[in-house]
Amino acid sequence: MRAWSALAIVVVLLGVAWVASGTGGGQAVIGTVIPYLAVALFLAGMVARVIGWARSPVPFRITTTCGQQRSLPWIPSATLDNPHTGWGAVRRMVLEVLLFRSLFRNTRSELRPTERLVYESDKVLWVAALAFHWSFLVILLRHLRFFLEPIPRLVPLLETVDGFFQLTVPTLFLTDALIVAALLYLLGRRVLNVQLRYLSLAADYFPLFVLLTIATTGILMRYVTKVDLVGAKELAMGLVTFHPVVPQGIGTLFFVHLFFVSVLFAYFPFSKLVHMGGVFLSPTRNLANNNRARRHVSPWNPEVKVHTYEQWEEEFRDKLVAAGIPLDKE
Ligand code: HEM
Repeated sequence: MRAWSALAIVVVLLGVAWVASGTGGGQAVIGTVIPYLAVALFLAGMVARVIGWARSPVPFRITTTCGQQRSLPWIPSATLDNPHTGWGAVRRMVLEVLLFRSLFRNTRSELRPTERLVYESDKVLWVAALAFHWSFLVILLRHLRFFLEPIPRLVPLLETVDGFFQLTVPTLFLTDALIVAALLYLLGRRVLNVQLRYLSLAADYFPLFVLLTIATTGILMRYVTKVDLVGAKELAMGLVTFHPVVPQGIGTLFFVHLFFVSVLFAYFPFSKLVHMGGVFLSPTRNLANNNRARRHVSPWNPEVKVHTYEQWEEEFRDKLVAAGIPLDKE
């Protein structure tokens, strides 16, 4: 039901985009107003989220620890899995962001009919997540050819590597195949796995459907129905230079593609996709675990009124002396 409702929203959006893209006025709105609105929402939303995270109090270290903490010099500590210095936390963060190290250790539990509950490593999820994120990044970097003039040298280099196998005409980009395969896997596991289906919300399906629509329309433009790439570049350059133009005859599919990219950007800060920024501000990830080496006192703790032994001794000095009890301070 939740998957269907997410799909229904995407189908409605697709219908709206398709109808609007067929008219001059619709193309003008999708090609100028909507991308700016989407980017404005993206920026404002991300800033609000980052301010929200930054203002959350983190009075002590709540680092995720996955190995031996540093203690005595002769006990080997896990410097990567339980970093005790800022540099160690940076190293762990870099590996997490680039290689999804924690997901690599992901396990799933399964109740097999003939066996008991089995816990097993789930490397396929890790591979699919890496394939999706890296393909997405490479595709975005390749798209710089639309937004920059002169085109940075990185772009043709990426295109050569990505099109290495020189299959099909125009050359098939590996990332195009990978992103669709990875997205279908990520969607399939939610739909086919009973436990995951139970846990999944419409907000888990919606971004997958939006991303699949963006990838599919992009792939159709490149390999099936051609669009006017010169016009597309003119439109993209107009957007980034704040002189928006909508050249005639680019093709309906391009505007559908652009509309869904705008939907993705506008939706991003308010969705689970915001983990892109959140991972860097996560106190379980970005802090070194020095809880034993340093005392962290919460700054808003109320001042504790104490009555020290010295004060107590002073208070009852005469009685202690009279009872013959030895004193710390004669
Ligand atoms: C989230 C952002 C975006 C994603 C994930 C995305 C994805 C894709 C994919 C997978 C393709 C297939 C071919 C290829 O990989 O190059 C494609 C093609 C295309 N995209 Fe995007 N796209 C995005 C943003 C944009 C934007 C903002 C524009 C506006 C200029 C755009 C314009 C195009 C065009 C014109 C093509 C056809 C390229 C060709 O025929 O060689 N895309 N896109």
